[in-house]
Amino acid sequence: MQNTSPAETNETLKIEGLSKAFDGRYALENISFSVRRGEIVGLIGRSGAGKTTLLRCLNGADSVDSGRVLVEGRNLSTLKERELLVLRQRIGLVFQGFNLLQSRTVSGNISLALEILGVPRKERLHRIQQLIHLVGLEGHEAKYPSQLSGGQKQRVGIARALAGHPAILLCDEATSALDPEATTSILTLLETINTELGVTIVLITHEMDVIRRLAHRVLVLDQGRIVEDISGEALSRGEAEHSLTQSFISRLSNNAEDMEVAGYASSGF
Ligand SMILES: Nc1ncnc2c1ncn2[C@@H]1O[C@H](COP(=O)(O)OP(=O)(O)OP(=O)(O)O)[C@@H](O)[C@H]1O
Ligand SMILES: [Mg+2]
Repeated sequence: MQNTSPAETNETLKIEGLSKAFDGRYALENISFSVRRGEIVGLIGRSGAGKTTLLRCLNGADSVDSGRVLVEGRNLSTLKERELLVLRQRIGLVFQGFNLLQSRTVSGNISLALEILGVPRKERLHRIQQLIHLVGLEGHEAKYPSQLSGGQKQRVGIARALAGHPAILLCDEATSALDPEATTSILTLLETINTELGVTIVLITHEMDVIRRLAHRVLVLDQGRIVEDISGEALSRGEAEHSLTQSFISRLSNNAEDMEVAGYASSGF
């Protein structure tokens, strides 16, 4: 059977034996894990571990060489192009660099996502207002990205990602370009999106604060393999088993300043 009915399972995402190579080298090797509906999963690992590649496989932007990615019970690789496009609306993407169109206003950037989804103009205007309110950008609708702070830009990025009412939000270092204050406000927003809208979140981060604050569960990726799959509680009790997870925790202490002192920037994390 290619697909599993989501009704049979509480799994929003299920990855089975996923492998992906570039130029004959594995970027991901035999990855398996599931993400439950409403869960927030943190993905950590050194630079080049395969985190972004994994996220791209989860939303169908990258094809897999072997294994399966099931989104709400549907196998991405067996879907026709049109079906894949529809399913990808169930998955929102948030990027470190915001990826906003400089020539469009806040409303225009959000509108673009809705235009791509084929939402009619009148509905679009209504939805833009809803999203602006959700991410707290009232009064900034007519501003261009160059007139916004980093945190505000990321709010636009999040609004855009939520345009199609996704079940899953995939965040690739969404707060890495932000100062601590903006990071905190974006984390609060992500928390609200998770608890109030029930959106499942998978987030890549280098920041221990993000893990501590948000992650129900943490996957540690090393050289394309999952070396640890641990709950947030177990992690904070110091029960990590893999040396890489332990070094991640010990190297990254409570705040960004400490991370600088600990040589975070050059540590590969
Ligand atoms: N399009 C591509 N073509 C060739 N190799 C690639 C491509 N994308 C990724 N890779 C390789 O796959 C491996 C994993 O890359 P990936 O970008 O997933 O790492 P990452 O964990 O996200 O790293 P970082 O923390 O630096 O963002 C790396 O060795 C990278 O060079
Ligand atoms: Mg990456």
